Amino acid sequence: MSTRWLEEVRRRHARAEAGGGEARRKRQHAEGKLSARERIDLLLDEGTFEELDKLVRHRSQNFGMQNNVIDGDGFVTGHGLVHGRQIFVFAQDFTVFGGSLSEANALKIVKLMDLAVKTGAPIVGLNDSGGARIQEGVVSLAGYADIFLRNTLASGVVPQISAIMGPCAGGAVYSPALTDFVFMVDGTSHMFVTGPEVIRTVTHEDVTKENLGGAITHNSVSGVAQFMAHDDEDCLRSIRELLTFLPQNNLDGVPRMPTKDPEDRADLELDTLIPLESNKPYDIKDVIARVVDDGHFFEVAEHFAKNIFVGFARMAGETVGVVANQPAHLAGCLDIDSSTKGARFVRFCDAFQIPILTFEDVPGFLPGTSQEFGGIIRHGAKLLYAYAEATVPKITVITRKAYGGAYCVMGSKHLRTDINFAYPTAEIAVMGPEGAVNILYRRELEAADSSEELRQAKIDEYRDHFANPFVAAERGYIDDVIEPHETRRKVIRALRMLANKTDTMPKKKHGNIPL
Ligand code: HXC
Repeated sequence: MSTRWLEEVRRRHARAEAGGGEARRKRQHAEGKLSARERIDLLLDEGTFEELDKLVRHRSQNFGMQNNVIDGDGFVTGHGLVHGRQIFVFAQDFTVFGGSLSEANALKIVKLMDLAVKTGAPIVGLNDSGGARIQEGVVSLAGYADIFLRNTLASGVVPQISAIMGPCAGGAVYSPALTDFVFMVDGTSHMFVTGPEVIRTVTHEDVTKENLGGAITHNSVSGVAQFMAHDDEDCLRSIRELLTFLPQNNLDGVPRMPTKDPEDRADLELDTLIPLESNKPYDIKDVIARVVDDGHFFEVAEHFAKNIFVGFARMAGETVGVVANQPAHLAGCLDIDSSTKGARFVRFCDAFQIPILTFEDVPGFLPGTSQEFGGIIRHGAKLLYAYAEATVPKITVITRKAYGGAYCVMGSKHLRTDINFAYPTAEIAVMGPEGAVNILYRRELEAADSSEELRQAKIDEYRDHFANPFVAAERGYIDDVIEPHETRRKVIRALRMLANKTDTMPKKKHGNIPL
C-alpha cells in the first residue's frame, strides 16, 4: 500500500476527529456539554460505531471558507448498536462552525436517513447547532428542507428520536419537531423559532432564552419536548432505555424482554387501591406499576398535561403503550393538552404495531371558556380519531369513572377496542349523579320544601342505576367485570389472544385528522 495515501487517510481522519480544535472542545466542556463524538460513544454499545462520510468537505467558496475546511464538516454520522440492535445516529459538532448545517453535511444526514428507512432501523439525532450555515445561504436552507422531507417520509416507518443538547433555533427546530420523541437537556439546550432579541424588537416582550425555550418550558408548557434530562449522560442513557421498548420499524413487531414476573401474578392491594368515593384522588401510576412486568414503566411527557399518563411498559415481556387518565391531577379530566398528548402517543403506537392498554377513570372534558375558546372540540376530536383509527390490539380497563363523551373517546368498545374490562367500582353514564339529578329534577328540587332530602334520594337512585359497570356489561360494551387483582392475568391473556389480530381501514390516501 502506498505510504503516501495511507498517511493522507490518517491525517484526514485525525482532522475530522479533532473537530474545531482543543480550545473549542474545552469551551464545550466548560459549558457542561460533551463533544459530538463523546455523545455517540455514550449512546452506542461500546466499540460498535461505524462512521460514514468522515471525509466529506463543505463546498463553500465565500467569506474565506475556501481556506477553512474541516474533514467531516462538523456532523458526525454513522451507525452502531444499542443493546445489540442497529440504529443510525448523527451528532452535530458545535465546535465546527457552531454545528451549523451546510449543503455537504445536510447530504450526510439525508444519506443516513435514506439508509435507515431502507434497512428499517431507528434514527437518533443529537442536535447542537447554530442553525443554517450563514456563509452558504440558500443551499443550507435547501439542506434543511431535504431533511424535513426525509423526516416526514420516515415518519411511521422507523422510530425517529431527537435530542436537543445545545442551541436549536429558527427553522432548524422543525426537524426535531417532525420526529417521534424530543429529549432536552436541562440548562444547556434551547429551542425557539425566534430568539429573545427578535421577540424584544417585534413584540417588546422581555424573556430570557431559558424561559423562552429551555427544557422546562418545552417539557411542561409547550409540550414540544417529551423528556428532560439533567445532563448529556442522563439524556443518552434515557434514549438507550426508550429504544429497548421500540420496534426497529413499522413491520418488525415489538421487541421481547424476558421477565421473571409471573403472568398470573395477583396483586391483592389493587383491590383496595381505587377509593370507593368517586371524587377521591389516587395515583393511576400505582395501578399501572402493579399490573405491568416488574412494576416498571417508561413515562413519556411526564411534565406535560399530567391529567393523562402515557408511556411504555411490558406485559409478559412484550411492549405495550399505556394510556391512562390520572385522577391525581385535575381529577383525570380530558382537556386540550391531554387530548393532543394522548392522541399523538396512540398514533405512535398504532404506526409501530404496539398494543394499546388504556386505564380509564375520567369525569369528562374540562369545562370552561378557556377550553372552549382554545378549541377543545377539535383537540378532543384528535384523541377520538386516534383511538378510532388504531388497528393494533386495544384493551381498556375502566377503573372508576367513565362519563360522557370521554367514555366514548377513551378506547370504548364502539371505537373497535378489542377487549374492555371494568372494575366493580366502575361508573359508566352520561354524567355524574349530582349533575344528572340537578338537570333531571330541577323543577321538583326548586319546588320542594325538603329539596336536600329529595336531591339525595334521587342521587342514590341514579347511582344505583348507573354508577356501576353492569348496564354496559349487560349490553356487551364491557366484556367482563373483573376484580382488580386479576388485571395482569386478564390483560396478558387478552394480548395473547390478540397477537395475530389484523384489522384494516377503508381504502383511502389518508384520513383528515382534525389537526
Ligand atoms: C456559521 C456559525 C453559526 C451559523 C454559530 N456559528 N452559528 N457559523 N453559521 N449559523 C459559529 C460562530 O461564528 C462561532 O465561530 C461558533 O460558531 C460558535 O458561536 P458563538 O456565537 O461563539 O457561540 P455562542 O456564544 O454559544 O452562541 C451560540 C448561538 C450563536 C446562540 C447559536 O452563535 C448564534 O446566534 N448563531 C446564529 C444563530 C442563527 O441565527 N442561525 C440561523 C437561524 S435560522 P468561531 O469560529 O468563533 O468558533 C435557520 C434557518 C433554518 O437556521 C431554516 C430551515 C428552514
